Amino acid sequence: MNPLKRLGRRRAAVLPLLAVTALVTPAAANAAPDASGAVRASTLGAQAAQSGRYFGAAVAAGRLGDGTYSGILDREFNSVTPENEMKWETTERSRGSFNFGPGDQIVSHASSHGQRVRGHTLVWHSQLPSWVGSIRDANTLRSVMNNHITTVANHYKGRIYAWDVVNEAFADNGSGQHRSSVFQDVLGNGFIEEAFRTARSADPGAKLCYNDYSIEDWNSAKTQGVYRMVRDFKSRGVPIDCVGFQSHFGAGGPPGNFQTTLSNFAALGVDVQLTELDIAQAPAGAYTNTVRACMNVSRCTGITVWGIRDSDSWRSGENPLLFDRNGNKKAAYGAALTALGGTPTA
Ligand code: G3I
Repeated sequence: MNPLKRLGRRRAAVLPLLAVTALVTPAAANAAPDASGAVRASTLGAQAAQSGRYFGAAVAAGRLGDGTYSGILDREFNSVTPENEMKWETTERSRGSFNFGPGDQIVSHASSHGQRVRGHTLVWHSQLPSWVGSIRDANTLRSVMNNHITTVANHYKGRIYAWDVVNEAFADNGSGQHRSSVFQDVLGNGFIEEAFRTARSADPGAKLCYNDYSIEDWNSAKTQGVYRMVRDFKSRGVPIDCVGFQSHFGAGGPPGNFQTTLSNFAALGVDVQLTELDIAQAPAGAYTNTVRACMNVSRCTGITVWGIRDSDSWRSGENPLLFDRNGNKKAAYGAALTALGGTPTA
């Protein structure tokens, strides 16, 4: 389902220079303390690192050869999420035959540029090969799902900061329940828990996230459904470390209670992250509000924008990102950097 159909609607971190040294990334070289001793960097990743956060972008392997694209990526971002390259239709197009080429390209670029990697995604009903969608036997599907998680997570073991273990499993119909999918329909409610347990065994060093869209408004049934699941998982020791709020917003930006949503989830004992941020027309104020909501919640550990230039976006007609088609910084870029506590330069 298209998330756009449902779109309706400072803490300037100040750390002493010594503490900052431990957080430094290649992009942080341009950070310098101001008169108050606060370090104000002039790139997104470097400034986010001042408060122990990351600022990332979704990346397409096919664009890494574009110098303007990779120039911005390596200057501004200290985290990457493969936009499509780790999805099931790419990694296991036919049963038992794995293809890690495109994902490896991104991971190798990230490791040579000091960027962490968010793995996206192990179990999702979309971009799923038809051979998986047609399985009707529970034992077969369980074994296929667990083998997929284990093989992919094992391949990238030690190189993934956080995995989106399960993506978009909740319905948009106001029920607060799981959506219908082959996993839900054949395996039942327990498939999410099983996926998390399998991912933990495969890569105990990666943070394990549940990721979804339209869960930013605290009052929505979908948000409440995900909240109940995370509360249940934490109470029973099911391994979950983080919740990803995709944050595909309309021009109005985030709901007014977004920060409340982030803090309420964080209070359950999980990190929260903005994982696929883009905002129709990219109003500067909407980006300010979004970044501030994260900065105001200590367990909001990072923000990822879903693409670099407007022309790279899945919503390119709405110009929702921080850089224009020519790679120039937009007003939204300055707003985001300022909200992180940094100082924009030309
Ligand atoms: O790779 C094929 C290429 O071989 C073919 O020639 C071309 C023709 O259409 O299609 C290419 O695949 C496209 C793929 O992106 C890679 O570019 C698919 O058609 C296209 O549907 C796919 O779109 C992606 C979409 O997920 C699929 O659902 C977007 O790039 C990607 O930004 C988007 O990302 C999702 C997140 O994973 C989950 N949350 C929502 C978000 C936005 O929809």
